[in-house]
Order: sequence, then C-alpha cells, then structure tokens
Amino acid sequence: MTDRALLNKAREAADNAYVPYSHFPVGAALECADGTVYTGCNVENAALGSTICAERTAIVKAVSEGRRRFVRLAIYGEGENYCFPCGACRQMLAEFVGSGDMEILCTRSGGRYVSYKFSDLMPHCFQL
Ligand code: THU
Repeated sequence: MTDRALLNKAREAADNAYVPYSHFPVGAALECADGTVYTGCNVENAALGSTICAERTAIVKAVSEGRRRFVRLAIYGEGENYCFPCGACRQMLAEFVGSGDMEILCTRSGGRYVSYKFSDLMPHCFQL
C-alpha cells in the first residue's frame, strides 16, 4: 500500500473522531506486519485525562485482534503543525516495536506529510 493510501485511511478514520472539547479530529491507520490495517480516532471525555488519542485507539484495536508487529503508522490531523504522536502514544508504540523499527507518517493542513523512523522520534525509550 502506498503512503498516500494509508494516509487516506487515517483521514477517513478522523470522520468518527469524538472531539467536543478540542474540536481537533485526528485519525490513525496502523499497518501490521501481515498487511492488515487498523484505524482509530481520538475519543475525548469530560474528564479530559480519560481522552484516548487516535494512535492508541488503533494500537488497542490491533493488539486486541492478535496483531503485535507494526510496520507503519499514518496520522491525520489538520493543524498548522505536523501531527506527531504524543509521548504516551510513542511509549505505547515502543512496546510493540521491540528490536525492529517502524515508519511514522504525520500530516498537517493542506495534505503535506513527513515520514520518520520511530527510532528517530523516540530513541532510548524505556523497556523492561
Ligand atoms: N491527539 C491525538 O489523537 N493524537 C495525537 O497525536 C495528538 C493529540 C488528540 C487528543 C485530543 O483529543 C486532541 O488531539 C487535542 O489534543
């Protein structure tokens, strides 16, 4: 699948974002080693700390369906800045990247995107 195709899935996932507080929809599309793709959106909560990001929604969906090896993650957000994964999402990704690596695609308004290796976004991360 091309980067653009994965980014389109992330964009579509953002249509389901529940964002009454921030009004900032985010969508994620997570490609697994076997080629399956899980999408997610952010789901906010009145207790703001209970909000879950789009990336973690996708990770939880994938892991709960038996996938544990990820190769690419596309993140859609229409902000002024590129929508990079937050610290909590990076830590959760680290759990499943293990000794391998994955690619992270981040969009900004206008459809432009950048691509990073996960290991560049989060070097020396905590693992037991
Ligand atoms: N958000 C995500 O879903 N992913 C990110 O990478 C950054 C932030 C969400 C959380 C909250 O619902 C909204 O964006 C504003 O912070």
